[in-house]
Amino acid sequence: MNRELFSKWGFILATIGSAVGLGNIWKFPYITGEYGGGAFVLIYLITILFVGISILIAEMFLGNFGKSDPVTTFEKVNPSMRWFGLMAFNGLIIMTFYSVVIGWIFYYIYSSINGLPTSVSEAEKEFKTLIGDSVAIQIAFHTLATLIVLHFVNGGIKEGIEKLNRILMPALMVILFGILLYSFTLPSFGKAFEFLFYPHWEKLSSEAFIRAVGHSFFTLSLGMGAIITYSASVSDRVNISKTALIVAFFDTLIALVAGLIIFTLLFQFGEEPSKGPGLVFISMPVIFSQMGGVGYFLSLLFLIALAMAGLTSAVSLVEPAVLYVINRFGLTRFKATILMGSIYWFIGIFAILSYSNSYGEFWSFFGKPLFDIFETTTDSLLLPLSGVIIAVVVGYIIKRENLNKISSEMGGVFSIWYISIRFIAPIAVIFLMLNLFGIIEL
Ligand code: PFF
Repeated sequence: MNRELFSKWGFILATIGSAVGLGNIWKFPYITGEYGGGAFVLIYLITILFVGISILIAEMFLGNFGKSDPVTTFEKVNPSMRWFGLMAFNGLIIMTFYSVVIGWIFYYIYSSINGLPTSVSEAEKEFKTLIGDSVAIQIAFHTLATLIVLHFVNGGIKEGIEKLNRILMPALMVILFGILLYSFTLPSFGKAFEFLFYPHWEKLSSEAFIRAVGHSFFTLSLGMGAIITYSASVSDRVNISKTALIVAFFDTLIALVAGLIIFTLLFQFGEEPSKGPGLVFISMPVIFSQMGGVGYFLSLLFLIALAMAGLTSAVSLVEPAVLYVINRFGLTRFKATILMGSIYWFIGIFAILSYSNSYGEFWSFFGKPLFDIFETTTDSLLLPLSGVIIAVVVGYIIKRENLNKISSEMGGVFSIWYISIRFIAPIAVIFLMLNLFGIIEL
């Protein structure tokens, strides 16, 4: 079995790198804007606290227990459960659109060097032209994103993934906190703070509720074996429950920092928060251009931060499937990486086509573009479902004495976690999924 180890800090940084991604900087602000701010944020924070962290600890435990890819890990728990390990492939489904979005970011880095749009209509036109008409350009940047990701996955745990995270994660934090300090000096900072933290309950729908729960899984990288795979690659001496808390803390912090930055700038320049996926691609460039010289600089820094966050998550989306193929079929890492990369790269092209004006209709099903289908089936369905599986396996199937490592790490808190993983987390998620299918009404 192929087992290469992270260093202790490499593991912590790589896991934070997996969690902190486009979900935090691109998606969290726009769904918060769409669903009205404070109340949505509160539900998101409560889910992270009561469900997300418990499942994060459970996934880390499983990784440490199995010391292998997700399929082999579930097989070790019980041979009939190996199928659950196929959740490793959820990451490839996510990559079909995640890599396309990283491609958009690359495109914007390139285009912002030539100048920024000066009005919302100009920015809207640029974004619409990119996703509606420029299939070839998108494929080119999706390919570039794929090549960079595969290069680091091919480098392996230590020389590839750890190295990438050791450089990009500290750089990302410096950039984001730098921009936060700047936003702090702007008068609309207070308004942004209120928008994020003051709950307007009347704006909360049951759909918002499900999105908040789904997003808390997505943002913590739960339910697809990324955390299992990373935690399999670390020495037993590392305190996994403490690492889980550090990861959840930084992940939440960065989402809130990104939200504060984006909403401060939006309100400062009189823009609407509910712009959807185009928020960082339409509203932000216009705002930056209104700021003059400093705006160009901030725009570039912001996009670079976004790209870095995306890349460190992307490697963790690909690694579980790659490790599985290496272990199961005896492929070399190079071949496994190329194979898994080609699969999501190829399907990603159809996600691109599903947004295009010419082919969009053909690549849409039930009125939804393939891109959106990949996105919502993973974050509202596959990730929570896999999360329930993890909770049930760790809470009921694994014998209590096997949990000694984490119970000694956690001390008195262990019993609270155990109740959460056996009852609160699975029941909460199942309840929400029944609601999603219209079986019950929230
Ligand atoms: N957590 C990442 C984000 O917030 O962008 C996305 C992600 C990475 C989801 C890895 C799942 C995963 F396994």
